[in-house]
Amino acid sequence: MLQDIDRILFSREQIAARVHQLASEIAATFTDTTSGVTLVTILSGSIIFLADLIRNLPIRMKIGLVTVSSYKGATTTGTTPRLLKDLDLDIRGDHVLLIDDILDTGRTLRLVQNELQALQPASIHTGVLLRKSTAPADIHVDFVGFDVEDVFVVGYGLDYNDHYRNYPHIGVLRRELYQPQPDAAS
Ligand code: XMP
Repeated sequence: MLQDIDRILFSREQIAARVHQLASEIAATFTDTTSGVTLVTILSGSIIFLADLIRNLPIRMKIGLVTVSSYKGATTTGTTPRLLKDLDLDIRGDHVLLIDDILDTGRTLRLVQNELQALQPASIHTGVLLRKSTAPADIHVDFVGFDVEDVFVVGYGLDYNDHYRNYPHIGVLRRELYQPQPDAAS
């Protein structure tokens, strides 16, 4: 696994410190909600982020999970995402915090934000651990862990072909692993 990582972007210590800060920002935003917050998380890339975030968030909460189709093996979002698993939670009137691992093209968040809106929550805020520099400006996010350049990142829950989720840092995958180099002979 380690030989597949080109460089570390954020170490586990940097991530832990930022997640702690992010939780404070989130807690400060939701101080007025007596009913608490409903966290809706997009699987599977957010699992470790969610686990760390909620343990830093001393507020009343419910947790719901949704699954969105991903682009298996590819590193660009060429296809339109679909909801594979609906939210099995009634969020009508709730203050929702939607959590995702990374905002890239924005298609995933746009899909889930629209689906949630239809369920008539009181409010929707959105938080992502990472936001790529190429993300469209019209996707609204309230909380961002780190802004990153347009590289393929893995680790801390983020995968490539379902691997590297257990890598404790956030690293850049070696380019030749996801972008085959042109054949020198051709
Ligand atoms: P979009 O393009 O819809 O992408 O904003 C969101 C989802 O795509 C996955 N994704 C990545 N996963 N490294 C990953 O491990 C990346 O650099 C990356 N870019 C996008 C991720 O599942 C995210 O929720």
